[in-house]
Amino acid sequence: MTIKRLTLKNPFIASSGTAGYGDIAEIPLDLFGAVVTKTITPLPREGNPPPRLAETPAGLLNSIGLQNMGLEAFYNFLKTFVKPTTLIVSVGGESPQEFETVIRVLNELDTIDAFELNLSCPNLKAGGEVVGKDFDTVSAIVETALAQTNKPLMLKLSPFTEDLPDILNRWESHLEAFVLFNTFPAMDIDLRTGEPDLGAVSGGLSGPAIYPIVLNAIYKYRQHTLIASGGIVSPSIAQKFLLAGAKALEIGTGNLWNPQLIYQLIREVEW
Ligand SMILES: Cc1cc2nc3c(=O)[nH]c(=O)nc-3n(C[C@H](O)[C@H](O)[C@H](O)COP(=O)(O)O)c2cc1C
Repeated sequence: MTIKRLTLKNPFIASSGTAGYGDIAEIPLDLFGAVVTKTITPLPREGNPPPRLAETPAGLLNSIGLQNMGLEAFYNFLKTFVKPTTLIVSVGGESPQEFETVIRVLNELDTIDAFELNLSCPNLKAGGEVVGKDFDTVSAIVETALAQTNKPLMLKLSPFTEDLPDILNRWESHLEAFVLFNTFPAMDIDLRTGEPDLGAVSGGLSGPAIYPIVLNAIYKYRQHTLIASGGIVSPSIAQKFLLAGAKALEIGTGNLWNPQLIYQLIREVEW
């Protein structure tokens, strides 16, 4: 199947942050249409204080905090990496310049098939707000990225992106697809201690709790080229997203809960 320029053997994509750098052995990544790497930032990041994962009744909370090896180490890693399937590199940064740096350096590597811009990176200078929330900031990052690469570009948005219809209209013809959405800001409290579960207090909610919200957005904006991300943990939920109009599906928490999920998706989902 083809999104626009990207041809995938199936519409199932392993989500950023849940499949390492495209190299984890626990999930049969070779069966996926594509894999997205952990988000890469210019400098290495250690991430947030533990605990960084907490289960809630209908979803997973995480506050990994974009822990990653950083651009230089990732470039060296990729030089000898044998990818399991189509490889999409997730790019993060706190400013258009940081996105530019990562894409400029990685663009020459043929092993990379596409880039996904992660606009949900917390901007530390702006008090932890996500970097790409409004039309102007998103557009500045997209313009900078487009100037650095001819590879297909995907734009992964936060569910609280302002001006979403304007962003979709403005950039549809320049981008491979929009990924709706990243995780939803959330927290939980441990009744035994009275304290937040996560070391960073607040994190991102993923898993089945969010799928109806994401489904609503996919259906609403189905005239655009959309990849669904959020709560695809079973063949039936995957099927609903394709019926709603998604061109492809990103699967994160579903793979963490059941690393064999892809076998079921391939067997049971019609696409
Ligand atoms: C442990 C964990 C780490 C994640 N790390 C990233 C990341 O580095 N970059 C990114 O764009 N999204 C990241 N995400 C978000 C997922 O890629 C996905 O968009 C989100 O979890 C919703 O999909 P799901 O319900 O299928 O997990 C992460 C999610 C989890 C659970």
